[in-house]
Amino acid sequence: MTAKVFLGQVIYTKSLNEFVIYTNGFVAVQNGKIVGEGDDYVAWKNGAGKDFPQDAEITQMTKEQFLMPGLVDCHIHAPQVAQIGLGLDMPLLEWLNTYTFPLEAKFTDQEFASKVYTKVVEATIKSGTTLASYFGTNNKDSTLILAKEALRQGQRALVGKVCSNCNSPDFYVEKTEESLSATKEFVDEMSKLSTELVKPIITPRFALSCTKELLSGLGAIAKEHNLHVQSHISESVAEIDFVKQLFSTSYAKAYDNAGLLTNKTVMAHAVHLEDAEIALFKERGTSVAHCPASNTMLSSGFCDVLRLVENGVKVGLGTDVSGGNSISIQDAILRALDVSHHIEFVKKQHIFGTGKLQNAEKADYKPLDYKQAIYLATLGGAEALALDNVCGNFVVGKEFDALLIDTGVYPLHNFGFYNMEDYDKKSAEVKLLEMVQKFIYTGDDRNISKVYVAGKQVK
Ligand code: GUN
Ligand code: FE
Repeated sequence: MTAKVFLGQVIYTKSLNEFVIYTNGFVAVQNGKIVGEGDDYVAWKNGAGKDFPQDAEITQMTKEQFLMPGLVDCHIHAPQVAQIGLGLDMPLLEWLNTYTFPLEAKFTDQEFASKVYTKVVEATIKSGTTLASYFGTNNKDSTLILAKEALRQGQRALVGKVCSNCNSPDFYVEKTEESLSATKEFVDEMSKLSTELVKPIITPRFALSCTKELLSGLGAIAKEHNLHVQSHISESVAEIDFVKQLFSTSYAKAYDNAGLLTNKTVMAHAVHLEDAEIALFKERGTSVAHCPASNTMLSSGFCDVLRLVENGVKVGLGTDVSGGNSISIQDAILRALDVSHHIEFVKKQHIFGTGKLQNAEKADYKPLDYKQAIYLATLGGAEALALDNVCGNFVVGKEFDALLIDTGVYPLHNFGFYNMEDYDKKSAEVKLLEMVQKFIYTGDDRNISKVYVAGKQVK
């Protein structure tokens, strides 16, 4: 792979509150990895980068373009893309029974699975997702098709064969032994792909549809092979009540007792976690995939991500398609901001219609801002998936997973703000931050011109 260097405007995050910008910067890439970055390419070329190949491919970005890290989707159900937008007027458990289980059961048909999964990977890459943590279905073979498709198209992915052995319809349920042996086979077949790009992730659907025996068996497989783990937790109130009844303990403990809360575990939703559960997440190093779109659509509730982050829990964003209605993590950024602003309103206990506060003590609650939301969508996601040593920002040594954003094309090209008189007087820093805001708040995948994973252009 030829070495590459990108010259121009660059943004990335180092933590929730550390936002790096270079108005005239560079990122140098060799063998898919970042070998240099900063705000002075010439100085780097003459110093640390003196061995960087002379024939590197140079991309000089325009003043309307910038480079940012790729988007990370910490929670997406690949099969459900086939029904995206349907049944979102129902609560979670009704939606699962009416739409989701019948659809997922169809993925025993490998041809159908192949068609859907090809499109899913294409569409998510187009939307800027460079890393996705996918749920497949109970069917091992079609879930392998999903993994191979991600690899073929060059997307970084964790892929899970879903496991469920109870409280599910007869046409979509496994026997315990069958679920465990299919999971072992899945892990084994994934290892034969011999790639770092696409890896298996242990995937109990949720505590409600798994017995203690199955959860413990999956915990043991995860431990034996040091695997990633994903599931759902504390999404809807009805579901939580049911889990507490079945397991006679908290939702988090139900997983922890099975060895499923590790520092490679990501749990979707976590809308209603209790303080003790949050403390347990922190202790275990377990993270949360915040799925604002589906939490809203299925009326599951408000997840206060800042409460999680401030209590030491790693958080990334998830689309949760098709409980969520959009495959775009850029959209998830906006939805996360929406939810956070709604929480601000509730926290401050405004008296509706009067503009007055009932609780002046909480008047200083600050909602998430766009820079923090970009962190959640990039580095936060990589941290949540325990892949932050691999990707998430442009730190030297990481793989180059990146988006080239062009604000000079539709739907952003015709605002004309670059030519406004007062705009020209603004500093380069302010101009870049305004460009980022334009993209985040009003742009879409048409502004994502190029997508790179491990240095390879995939869009
Ligand atoms: N809980 C168990 N399965 C699912 C699912 O497919 N989507 C969502 N949003 N929640 C779940
Ligand atoms: Fe989900």
